[in-house]
Amino acid sequence: IFTTVASYREWRHKAFIANKSVGFVPTMGALHEGHLSLVRKSLSENDLTVLSIFVNPTQFAPHEDLETYPRTLEHDLNALVDQQLIVPSSDPRSDSDSTSTSIVKRPSAVFLPSVHEMYPGGIEQEIHKQHGTFVEVKGYGEKMEGKSRPGFFRGVATVVTKLFNVIQPTNAYFGQKDIQQALLLRRMVTDLLLSHPSPDRLHIVPTVRDPSDNLALSSRNAYLSPAGRKVAPILYAALKSAEKCWFSVDGGQSKKKCVDTARELIERRIEEARSQGLNTEIKLDYIEMNDAGDFEILEDHVTRSSTDEKIVPVILSGALWVDGTRLIDNVVLGDL
Ligand code: PAJ
Repeated sequence: IFTTVASYREWRHKAFIANKSVGFVPTMGALHEGHLSLVRKSLSENDLTVLSIFVNPTQFAPHEDLETYPRTLEHDLNALVDQQLIVPSSDPRSDSDSTSTSIVKRPSAVFLPSVHEMYPGGIEQEIHKQHGTFVEVKGYGEKMEGKSRPGFFRGVATVVTKLFNVIQPTNAYFGQKDIQQALLLRRMVTDLLLSHPSPDRLHIVPTVRDPSDNLALSSRNAYLSPAGRKVAPILYAALKSAEKCWFSVDGGQSKKKCVDTARELIERRIEEARSQGLNTEIKLDYIEMNDAGDFEILEDHVTRSSTDEKIVPVILSGALWVDGTRLIDNVVLGDL
């Protein structure tokens, strides 16, 4: 477990010398099966795997949940021991042997930096956008989720650039759950000519869902009331109904028709919850379809057959407020 950039770099240097590939899974902790599926994929495709846990302040707006974001370090480390990503400190393999052979013996590493370690120049100037260095993926970060959360993708792109600079991964793994984040970072890696990882080594891994009702796993699900948890799966159900509409016979229905189908399904469920007396507050933020290449909103009249001619994959995504928590989910229509 590394808490400083310098100590991690020593380890990474040895991995370079030993010619070991390094897979990287960046997270903000509160680990669940979604995160662990990324870890397992990385373990299966790399000699070594590094998982980072860092609740990045610059991607939270002042009114958002930075202070209350779930921090469950002990649980997280236990989950990683269960995945054999790390070994418990009582295990002889966890001694601090610094020869290069220890790299081979040890399954991998966890990077747990402090805010000061990641932002040695302070974060004030980052948040107030006055001085200092930040990364912005223009034309991408302001759309879709970026419209609801201004500054969010700037915080994400900045911290992930820093993490890539430190970790120097051969491969990096991101969840489809946050599809815009993954595609925007792939664009960033391309634009900045990064080689660790190179753009084709930034992998997007399918969303892991609760097997009982298909709710996408998310650290923020912990905020939901029992009633809210019961209603939350409607978001994915609505996206699936719009997907069915899009792929219906004869080239599919128009975007407007499909998105309206999904919105109506959600509004009906909200009404039903109200009439059942369920004690939860639900509000649809948006359901939309965007071109996966430039994140532009599809025009209302567009149908699958018209996009097929251009071969554009489409992101069908939505956000739902449940008990003051904003849940997001998406389905990709076509191949990325
Ligand atoms: P976090 O929300 O902790 O997510 C870390 C990674 O896990 C992301 O790539 C996310 O897409 C993936 N993930 C989350 N839920 C998932 C699910 N149900 N199935 C599959 N993958 C899932 O995303 C962030 O952290 C941060 O923005 C970060 C990239 C770490 C930068 O701070």
